[in-house]
Amino acid sequence: MSEAKLIDGKLIAQALRQEIAGEVQRFRQAHARAPALHVVLVGDDAASAVYVRNKEKAVVEAGMIGAVHRLPASTTAAALHQLVRELNEDPAVDGILVQLPLPAHIPVDPILESVDPAKDVDGFHPVNVGKLWSGKAALVPCTPRGCLHLLRTAEVPLEGSRALVIGRSNIVGKPMAALLLGANATVSIGHSRSRDLPARCREADVLIVAAGQRQMVEGSWIKPGATVIDVGMHRGPDGKLCGDVDLASARKVAAAITPVPGGVGPMTIAMLLDNTLKAALARTARS
Ligand code: GUN
Repeated sequence: MSEAKLIDGKLIAQALRQEIAGEVQRFRQAHARAPALHVVLVGDDAASAVYVRNKEKAVVEAGMIGAVHRLPASTTAAALHQLVRELNEDPAVDGILVQLPLPAHIPVDPILESVDPAKDVDGFHPVNVGKLWSGKAALVPCTPRGCLHLLRTAEVPLEGSRALVIGRSNIVGKPMAALLLGANATVSIGHSRSRDLPARCREADVLIVAAGQRQMVEGSWIKPGATVIDVGMHRGPDGKLCGDVDLASARKVAAAITPVPGGVGPMTIAMLLDNTLKAALARTARS
């Protein structure tokens, strides 16, 4: 049997970023300003610092304004709320992203709920979550949007298909399920308490794995001919990056699969750019 086709997220993200850069140019000409994303980074989590730098770089490359507010780990919840309020009220700010995780002494939900839903490029505000689940236009979390874009670009049939999302986080699993439902798939959500997850996987035409467990899904779990999207990102014992899916065994069974690295990862940033542009366009249309 031939090996599964690799869905090249790097290439697909590149094409999308180019398209967005073109739209940003048109926005700048029409409105005499550039869309602006403000990222808030609290504390000194090393991984977060890298993510934020990459986001800032991509935003600038797309022709938008990128600002990063770096605050010390000792920042109080009140000070963070004050900054979010200022960004909410600043008409020059289109997108606000509070990088997670926050230091343990700052409750996360009140911060996410304090972001103006119109500027919530993460799509984490309950107003945007509610809109997504009721099928209304919303800012949608970047990683699941990126997964859907990969499925669409690879021309994977979703309507009427059996889709299984493994993982029920607010950032990936739940919004992913909502998007697949919106695409008329028959959607299930599997998680750590699910009984007989391998059997549920073997029923899935489309399998999205966001479990956070290194190489948890093996080829024997996959339905022959299925499409597999791997959201995981781990460093293996050999020092190499790998995902939630064992790529080598999965490739022998699936029809198409995203590699790690170079699959979902590059899509997240591309979708953040798109959400920022979307927010800027919507805010401009409203004012
Ligand atoms: N930390 C890890 N992923 C994300 C994300 O998508 N958004 C934010 N704000 N923080 C994160």
